[in-house]
Amino acid sequence: MAKQILVVHGPNLQLLGSRQPSVYGTANLATINQDLKRLATQEGAILTFVQSNHEGEIVERIGAAKGRYDGLLINPAAYTHTSVAIRDAVEGAGVPAVEVHLSNIYAREPFRQHSLIAPVCRGQIAGFGAASYRLGLLALLGLLASEAAAPSGVSDHRPAPSSRKTRRPASKRRRR
Ligand code: DQA
Repeated sequence: MAKQILVVHGPNLQLLGSRQPSVYGTANLATINQDLKRLATQEGAILTFVQSNHEGEIVERIGAAKGRYDGLLINPAAYTHTSVAIRDAVEGAGVPAVEVHLSNIYAREPFRQHSLIAPVCRGQIAGFGAASYRLGLLALLGLLASEAAAPSGVSDHRPAPSSRKTRRPASKRRRR
């Protein structure tokens, strides 16, 4: 069945295209969403988009995501660095989430170099402009597919204990 993905764009991202193009690129939000939708169709996923400048609205949309969406792709924008409420919403929803940023937040001002949201996401992609969204969507769909294939909770790709080489073969073991 097609995966349902909620795509959340935080504050000021409605201004993409004209907002600091040297930092965020020249693509506007409509173009980013169209590209993502095309990619989602190829990958068999359905996207729902939200852009909001209001923390409470973002919290409510994420809070209602459980049972409706299989995954969350989120650029929390400035709330990345300030919002305990959005972090708690992501954690509480329990829906696998990937955080994306157009810019490389780790190469910017110190206050942007910390994300409150990343620790409750499955991963983060930053610094690739509009491609961060495409990479984030592919990463999210990839992890949903691998978890659907291994529903037992084995998600870290470690070999099962029986196949680990923890014991030397009997012929090589030293006698005591
Ligand atoms: C951003 C980075 C944030 O620090 C900033 O507040 C944004 C956009 C990005 O996509 O690079 O609004 O999330």
